[in-house]
Amino acid sequence: MLVDKGNHRHFMAKEIYEQPEVIPHTFGHYIDPTKETVVLPELPLDLGSVTHISITACGTALYAGAVAEYWFERFARVPVSIDIASEFRYRETPLQPGGITIVISQSGETADTLASLRYAKELGQKVVAVVNVPTSTIAREADVVLPTLAGVEIGVASTKAFTCQLATLACLAVATGRAKGVLTSDDEHRLVRAMMEVPRLMTEALKLSPEIELLSRTLAKAQDVLYLGRGTNYPLALEGALKLKEISYIHAEGYAAGELKHGPIALIDEKMPVVVIAPYDRVFEKTVSNMEEVAARGGRIILVTDQKGADLANVTAMQKLILPEMPATIAPLIYSIPVQLIAYHTAVLMGTDVDQPRNLAKSVTVE
Ligand code: G6P
Repeated sequence: MLVDKGNHRHFMAKEIYEQPEVIPHTFGHYIDPTKETVVLPELPLDLGSVTHISITACGTALYAGAVAEYWFERFARVPVSIDIASEFRYRETPLQPGGITIVISQSGETADTLASLRYAKELGQKVVAVVNVPTSTIAREADVVLPTLAGVEIGVASTKAFTCQLATLACLAVATGRAKGVLTSDDEHRLVRAMMEVPRLMTEALKLSPEIELLSRTLAKAQDVLYLGRGTNYPLALEGALKLKEISYIHAEGYAAGELKHGPIALIDEKMPVVVIAPYDRVFEKTVSNMEEVAARGGRIILVTDQKGADLANVTAMQKLILPEMPATIAPLIYSIPVQLIAYHTAVLMGTDVDQPRNLAKSVTVE
């Protein structure tokens, strides 16, 4: 299939802008909009009797799994463990019968993720693969395949595949919560209604692009950038740092906001931009106090939040990116957009090869 860049300068930009169109395909596959329910394909396993979920993947796909960990625990009250695939396969995890392993992979060919799938199967786990390439080896070998339906992704830095992984995992978490009797029908309807708002909210988020382009001038001058978040925004902080590193070659680290005081705070000075991902939610106040610690040490804060969060966070030396208010569950899908645009615009300013960054491959089929 021939894929072009359309009106965009890079495939990555095209793929970022495609998200409001591809997300409805993904949700369309797993949601019945009239009944406001999640509908999964026939599964050879009973989600209601799952006792443990292990999640494993590499790179960006791992961070999609790390967001889903919060969803599975909150919606389905199932204990979850998550591992980098290259660790999982050698860790000798004592997986018990009754558990499922979820492997997540855009390409479906990543060597460590595939080896983890085989390892989990040997230990008697049912393996659910969340993959973008339905003909891939991982899709063929898994017990259950949940396609992410993002379409072909060319940019090495994953963008639309990531949010489609989130969409698929959110549906699986809701279906598990329903099967376990943790979520009521009303809960499910409310969650599905929120999911149906995602494309519109993504379109709103994309409007921040010119503002992000301006503030990426600060980032392009930085040597190091710190990303902070709490709850489901913590994996987004990890993803933000990964994206920036991958394509701009600026060193970046993602941290759980509460962990700041246990090390990274020592790095903060007026040369260090700190991107804080913090919608106004139940942990917002905690994150504000972390931001105050950064501001007190001269760190330059870029706060990605909503209007309520922007009004409440009164910290000096701060730039704010303001998104619409939204239910907390879908926030990771929407907040991914500014995270991706920050990396993209910074890399463009740095003049790197955005779609084919040095030393990286789209699919890593070696150990
Ligand atoms: C490579 C790519 C990353 C990707 C990771 C996992 O490192 O550069 O963008 O997240 O592999 O790839 P997968 O195809 O398994 O999602």
